[in-house]
Amino acid sequence: MATDLNPTAHDSHDNPRHIAIIMDGNGRWAQKRMMPRVMGHHAGVKAVRKIVEYCAKQGIEVLSLFAFSSENWRRPREEVNLLMDLFLSTLQTEVDKLDKNNIRLKIIGDRAGFSNKLQLKIRDAEAQTASNTGLTLVIAANYGGRWDITQAVTQIVAGIQNATIAPGDVSEALIDNYLVTAGLPEPDLFIRSGGEERVSNFLLWQLAYTEFYFTKTLWPDFDGALLQEAIASFKGRQRRFGHTGEQMLDNQNGYALLQ
Ligand code: IPE
Ligand code: IPE
Ligand code: MG
Repeated sequence: MATDLNPTAHDSHDNPRHIAIIMDGNGRWAQKRMMPRVMGHHAGVKAVRKIVEYCAKQGIEVLSLFAFSSENWRRPREEVNLLMDLFLSTLQTEVDKLDKNNIRLKIIGDRAGFSNKLQLKIRDAEAQTASNTGLTLVIAANYGGRWDITQAVTQIVAGIQNATIAPGDVSEALIDNYLVTAGLPEPDLFIRSGGEERVSNFLLWQLAYTEFYFTKTLWPDFDGALLQEAIASFKGRQRRFGHTGEQMLDNQNGYALLQ
């Protein structure tokens, strides 16, 4: 069994170690104000700054933000271009600040879909912040959960073909190691703003035992107080990982759980 599904590894009364957010509702936020959708994306970046700051202060280990899905290319070309420009300009303005705040930046997704300029900027931003030890900020861009699992399988198949992986070694832990989130704890708390209650191809494998929290608030209006509410909801839940509620209570009283 993958170690992160070990219920003794984390108690929901603690703060979540890893929060994953689908930042949805930028377009509707702008449309409600009779503004073009792109204004909603700009306002969304401001909300990102607030939430990153909040998580860094609270000592959260990992914050993963879904910025652009592998399906978002289906949007009108104009909006896609604007989102790419915004991604590049935000990286340009924010990386030094992240670095000063000891934040490690990690971009997950299929980079081959981006311009050379953006790919280079991503590489530099990650390198600049690689040794930081505070919050790990994961930005999912051109990311899809199915893409992630597919690229892991492709690498494992290649490993089997060149005999660096024995077929019998394929396990949940091995697959974990080939996902783009390798080395990170699994998300404890998943939040989606904007009112939709779906996963939209975010971290499919990694969300197996994550607690879900949905809010109607549109992403540009999301702030530290709302994140605090989501965390409070998380802390009030009992995570059972397949055990019974009684077993979990016994575990709190010092009895070991069956793995
Ligand atoms: C989320 O907001 C941002 C991206 C997907 C890039 P949307 O742009 O999906 O906003 P709505 O859902 O149309 O309101
Ligand atoms: C999910 O939002 C992706 C991001 C927030 C980046 P979408 O707005 O693309 O999701 P759907 O299409 O409503 O499921
Ligand atoms: Mg949306």
